[in-house]
Amino acid sequence: MKKIIGTLTLLVLVITLLAACGKSEANSEGNNQNTEDKKILKMATSADFPPFESRDTAGNYEGFDIDLAHMVAKELGYELEIEDMKFDGLVGALQSGRVDMVMAGMSATEKRRQNVEFSTEYNRSGEMFIFKPTNAFKDLESLKGKTIGVQLGTIQEEGADALSEEYGFTVKKVDDAGTMIQELNSNRIDVAYMDKSVAKGYIKEQDLQGFDDPTTSSPGMGIAFPKDSDLVEDVNKALKKFEENGELQKLKDKWLNEQ
Ligand code: ARG
Repeated sequence: MKKIIGTLTLLVLVITLLAACGKSEANSEGNNQNTEDKKILKMATSADFPPFESRDTAGNYEGFDIDLAHMVAKELGYELEIEDMKFDGLVGALQSGRVDMVMAGMSATEKRRQNVEFSTEYNRSGEMFIFKPTNAFKDLESLKGKTIGVQLGTIQEEGADALSEEYGFTVKKVDDAGTMIQELNSNRIDVAYMDKSVAKGYIKEQDLQGFDDPTTSSPGMGIAFPKDSDLVEDVNKALKKFEENGELQKLKDKWLNEQ
């Protein structure tokens, strides 16, 4: 009799354990309860930059970078957590170890490479100057005496500073790209200077005009990591896979080529 009770107890124990295992596996597929075996990937972005990253009316993140981040996280077995911050603070967030990676349409410049590591580049975009149609600027010379808006911490901030003396314009620096468009619409700046893929979206949506920056050859966009992060290699492998199996192109068709 003792033996039977013993065996029964063991059986109940095994069944309970198995049930618990099944549950924790289900949890790791998407809901937010923290189970022990869940690996979290903390990503920071600056969600003011459609079609790369923005928020829909319900506050959900969306865009090319957001989709790609989810794909990478899934491929590597992580759950993705996204934090929104000012573009200007992203490199610092990596350096302090507050986040594991940054996707924010960030150009992989040599200067940034001194402080962070980049994945292989996943997209290329030039720069554009955009403005209201009534202004009809044509080239850098026509910007003399005008005020050009740029986003703080971007390569456009640096580029505009470098060009401002030669072409005689003033540079106004703002925290986010959305504010820049508001400044343009309320005539506090004459021109906004930004990445071409983003500019093209605003041209269409806000009925603006623009011309390509003839001076720049900016590097492509990369995913940024803290120096010596051991994620870089795995993420590069994932990116290579998405490049080869056409998934990356699908994302470009979805977010970038429709304008
Ligand atoms: N590509 C530019 C840079 O790296 C601008 C990126 C701005 N990104 C953003 N999410 N606001 O400096």
